[in-house]
Amino acid sequence: MIEIKASDYSIFISKDIAKEINRFLKANKSRYSKLFILVDEKTLEYCYPQMAAHIPAFKDAEIIEIESGESSKNIEICSQIWATLSDYGADRQSLIVNLGGGVIGDMGGFIASVFKRGIGFINIPTTLLSQVDASIGGKVAVDLNNIKNEIGLFSNPSAVFIDTTFLQTLDERLLLSGFAEMIKHALIVDDIYWKKIKEADIFDFEKIDALVETSIHIKNKIVQEDPFEKNNRKALNFGHTIGHAIESHFLSKQNISKQLLHGEAIAIGMICEAYLSNRIVNLPNDALEDITTFILSLYEPVQLKKTDFDRMIELMFHDKKNENTLINFSLIPAIGKYEINKTASPDLIKEALKYYSEKVKLLK
Ligand SMILES: NC(=O)c1ccc[n+]([C@@H]2O[C@H](COP(=O)([O-])OP(=O)(O)OC[C@H]3O[C@@H](n4cnc5c(N)ncnc54)[C@H](O)[C@@H]3O)[C@@H](O)[C@H]2O)c1
Repeated sequence: MIEIKASDYSIFISKDIAKEINRFLKANKSRYSKLFILVDEKTLEYCYPQMAAHIPAFKDAEIIEIESGESSKNIEICSQIWATLSDYGADRQSLIVNLGGGVIGDMGGFIASVFKRGIGFINIPTTLLSQVDASIGGKVAVDLNNIKNEIGLFSNPSAVFIDTTFLQTLDERLLLSGFAEMIKHALIVDDIYWKKIKEADIFDFEKIDALVETSIHIKNKIVQEDPFEKNNRKALNFGHTIGHAIESHFLSKQNISKQLLHGEAIAIGMICEAYLSNRIVNLPNDALEDITTFILSLYEPVQLKKTDFDRMIELMFHDKKNENTLINFSLIPAIGKYEINKTASPDLIKEALKYYSEKVKLLK
């Protein structure tokens, strides 16, 4: 078992995570009156049974199930869950257990943080994305009218429990979605990690643990230095200003098959923001080419319509990182280095979107 200290909680990494959860629940027995486990249909099927088999307290817990996917991460579903908690007599000593990916963690954390002015929650992340990124750092939120994470707050879990065994039931697309955040970790702070990332086989479960641990350390270190994102935590937003706008744009499409996973949108965002980095903070041409080629070799190409660029820029104006009506970016002057609080004009952002689109066309 590895224990990584975050600000006021610990992140436990283990292949026998039930043991650590049992230990935590036993040590905090007097603090918690009742357990509520938040799941979606997939984590109920793939993750809950193995937990319940080894954690006696989980058998007596109330299970709250939501439909999987980003479209559930909204205030209406929260209202239903708050009502369910009230119906089940949840009190201020209740504990919410978030058993699932980033949607469950972001939403369950938000639900817990405002219910009765705040009750405890723990995260048991079950996707690669949530293990290396979303479960750590205390950002909890829901979307509003498809605008990502528009309603939320900073609120830390009481503990995070990570077991990469959960990843075995993820499909290739979901693994790659999580891998996008690991690529980001390397690009912003660690050029040696970038080399490892480029050589990594993300589908090799024997080797994934070391990479997961590195990413957790990177994210945790940045968050600890700047928990409320006043300064350097903004580095973690590399790829996310454009990525979130693309994700929101596709989220608003009725056709669910056209929606992108979070990491898929961030992968496109990183190519576009690497282009901006080249133009604004002098990321060398060969580094831009290296990043573009590597990301395009992993992710399905997505056709971005020129006619949608204005709508995407409009969505970027909603980004929480903006100040004074300028769109704010965290960029990389070199692989493994970052600069925060950079701005780009709408025309230059369109050029970045066009850069991605042209590269995709060349793949045909
Ligand atoms: N709070 C943060 O700091 C932060 C950081 C990055 C991303 N996020 C958020 O995280 C979310 C994306 O997270 P995600 O990719 O985990 O999405 P997700 O929670 O929607 O999970 C993706 C899919 O995987 C399924 N799933 C989960 N665990 C599984 C398992 N072990 N086996 C099989 N299927 C499983 C889920 O049911 C879902 O269908 C986005 O909402 C994003 O905004 C938050």
